[in-house]
Amino acid sequence: MARFTLPRDIYHGKGALEVLKTFEGKRAMICTGGGSMKRGGFLQKVEAYLKEAGMEVELFEGIESDPSVETVMKGAEAMQKFEPDWIVAIGGGSPIDAAKAMWIKYEYPETTFEDMCKVFGLPRLRTKAKFCAISSTSGTATEVTAFSIITDYQKGIKYPIADFEITPDVAIVDPELAHTMPKKLVAHTGMDAMTHAVEAYVSTANCDYTDPLAIHAIEMIMDNLVKSYNEDMDARDAMHNAQCLAGMAFSNALLGIVHSMAHKTGAVFADQGAHIIHGAANAMYLPKVVAFNAKDPVAKKRYGVIADYMHLGGANDDEKVELLIKYLRKMNDDLNIPHSINHYGADGLPAEQGFVPEEVFLERLHDIAANALLDACTGSNPRQPSQEEMEKLLKCCYYDTEVDF
Ligand SMILES: NC(=O)c1ccc[n+]([C@@H]2O[C@H](COP(=O)([O-])OP(=O)(O)OC[C@H]3O[C@@H](n4cnc5c(N)ncnc54)[C@H](O)[C@@H]3O)[C@@H](O)[C@H]2O)c1
Ligand SMILES: [Fe+2]
Repeated sequence: MARFTLPRDIYHGKGALEVLKTFEGKRAMICTGGGSMKRGGFLQKVEAYLKEAGMEVELFEGIESDPSVETVMKGAEAMQKFEPDWIVAIGGGSPIDAAKAMWIKYEYPETTFEDMCKVFGLPRLRTKAKFCAISSTSGTATEVTAFSIITDYQKGIKYPIADFEITPDVAIVDPELAHTMPKKLVAHTGMDAMTHAVEAYVSTANCDYTDPLAIHAIEMIMDNLVKSYNEDMDARDAMHNAQCLAGMAFSNALLGIVHSMAHKTGAVFADQGAHIIHGAANAMYLPKVVAFNAKDPVAKKRYGVIADYMHLGGANDDEKVELLIKYLRKMNDDLNIPHSINHYGADGLPAEQGFVPEEVFLERLHDIAANALLDACTGSNPRQPSQEEMEKLLKCCYYDTEVDF
């Protein structure tokens, strides 16, 4: 038996935010990030609509990018005091993910972060509050997914919390929120969405319910991401839907080792002055992982199907895989994303000298690979790498060398 779970309601299209006026409840806590939602005027709208619905409203602001365990605990404490029956999270993946984890701790105050990380091991939520997610970036699709990514900064590791219990009750996918995204954010979040769709399609947990979502998302991202990056706002609107479809696919089909590697490299070099931004990490690693996974015959066939839907040509599956890799790398060029860690600058842009020194990378390689193998996304990857293969793969991602194993 398999399970396919989505939010009960997904409100989409311009003006969808207004649906908040119809919510029923007593108290709503709005969780948000550092200020982009306020600058865009969206936070004020959310607050006004919830008040119009007759609710008392409290704000929990300042959730940082790649949210920490500490922030989650602080937010949960605020919830325990205010006792909301609605949690409304607005912003990018970071504030929404943090709010999901706060929700768990609010419902079960005795829960530890370790408890939360037991895959599909959460107790029943919704005994205190329902959850509404409003996404402002076009990538993570956390508004429809069963995931939340929290960083343990003491370990320098991102941990995915995975359980259908944290799939939101309501998702609001209003493209107007995405219009204020700076170009670099469009690029990174868009390639995150592309990675979600491709990994979901070749995942060992793919099924008839997830395949059409993944394929349609890939087609839409191919048609719209670069245009959206170049400020075409119709394409930007389409990307907001495309990333959500990709999310519906991967929330149910799971992901693969591109994400395992992105989770374990994201914060591990923070002491060198920067993070490897999630979407950029995915964009760099995806072509390498396609080459690695294509040694598995079923995965190779599925990449061939993706290439066919993308009209890339190719006389056989080997050629199709090659063309797919070439196309993904071209997207990175068009979006000004580097191809490898050694050229990843502290600002996320291509640089002659990346911010991760070679000796630091090599010194940490063994542990990063070991942690990536243990990541919750590794189990559904179509080809299971050994420790040695994972290290080799990460080296290819550092030096931009060919994957021939
Ligand atoms: N839960 C999931 O299923 C899932 C999937 C993929 C990634 N993630 C996680 O999500 C996080 C990344 O989320 P993200 O890529 O959405 O970025 P983010 O939430 O970290 O936001 C990045 C920056 O963009 C700003 N921003 C957000 N929306 C904006 C807008 N419309 N206009 C202008 N600025 C805006 C934010 O203020 C912030 O400074 C990572 O921690 C990643 O691991 C989660
Ligand atoms: Fe992702």
